[in-house]
Amino acid sequence: MDLAGKNVVYLGGFGGIGQKVCAELLERQLKALAVFDLAPNDQLMGAWQAKYPNTEIFYQKVDITQKPELEAAYKAAAARLQHFDLVVNGMGLMNDHFVELTIQINLLGLINSSLLALEHMDQTKGGRGGLVVNISSVAGLQPTPLMSIYSAAKHGVTAFTRGLADPAYYAHTGVAFITICPGFTDTPLLADMLDKTTFSFETPMKKIIPKVKRQPPEVCARNMVKVIEQGQNGGVWKLDVGEMEELDMPVMWKPVLQD
Ligand SMILES: NC(=O)c1ccc[n+]([C@@H]2O[C@H](COP(=O)([O-])OP(=O)(O)OC[C@H]3O[C@@H](n4cnc5c(N)ncnc54)[C@H](O)[C@@H]3O)[C@@H](O)[C@H]2O)c1
Repeated sequence: MDLAGKNVVYLGGFGGIGQKVCAELLERQLKALAVFDLAPNDQLMGAWQAKYPNTEIFYQKVDITQKPELEAAYKAAAARLQHFDLVVNGMGLMNDHFVELTIQINLLGLINSSLLALEHMDQTKGGRGGLVVNISSVAGLQPTPLMSIYSAAKHGVTAFTRGLADPAYYAHTGVAFITICPGFTDTPLLADMLDKTTFSFETPMKKIIPKVKRQPPEVCARNMVKVIEQGQNGGVWKLDVGEMEELDMPVMWKPVLQD
């Protein structure tokens, strides 16, 4: 997607990865950027607006666990922008002590947001088509036992996003879906990680965590914007240790048809 002149909605745009991706997107002469997040960040918004005076930048308060709030934010943003070209679902929580919240924020909220984005972007419903980018994780590709609940939510994100990228849906709606799977990225999400694991007893796995190589969020962000610019519908991208790789997802099952 050529981002110049485009309208972007970014959920979780003030987070560690989100704010770096927004900064990178703003370099592309966007028409507008709507940031949906839990709390405002006036300082960051002010700095962005001063640096990019030709882009309309605004904030909508959204707690992704509150569906009416999410619906209202999409409605308000649509009233202001008329259409969206790109929606990024980039909010997240990693704390396995909060089972329901982990699923609500990482999976249920992302599903609701993707379906609402489609309502506004689907070419059969008056939209113009576009791209929805959902942030999963390497934990959405491979079970990560230390964070089994987060990993389950992220596997759900990968499956849901790949499902909505089915070519038959894409041909109908004109909305492409891409899955992004970052590896360890230095953001507040990783803070006190060992206090947020599924179980609190000691295991050898816990000793490995501090040794896992991390990437800076701005490096992850640069690669993510490259994917947005170059990626195709249905792509699943691993963005780890500063590298980007489109994954060849294995086919594990095919339905056997009756005669
Ligand atoms: N940092 C990593 O190592 C890493 C690795 C893989 C995937 N990810 C994923 O990348 C995305 C961004 O994570 P990050 O590392 O920038 O984390 P972060 O904690 O810095 O940012 C998370 C963002 O989500 C928002 N958020 C949290 N709860 C919310 C709610 N109820 N409603 C609305 N917004 C809410 C926060 O306000 C924040 O903007 C997440 O989906 C995360 O799971 C991160």
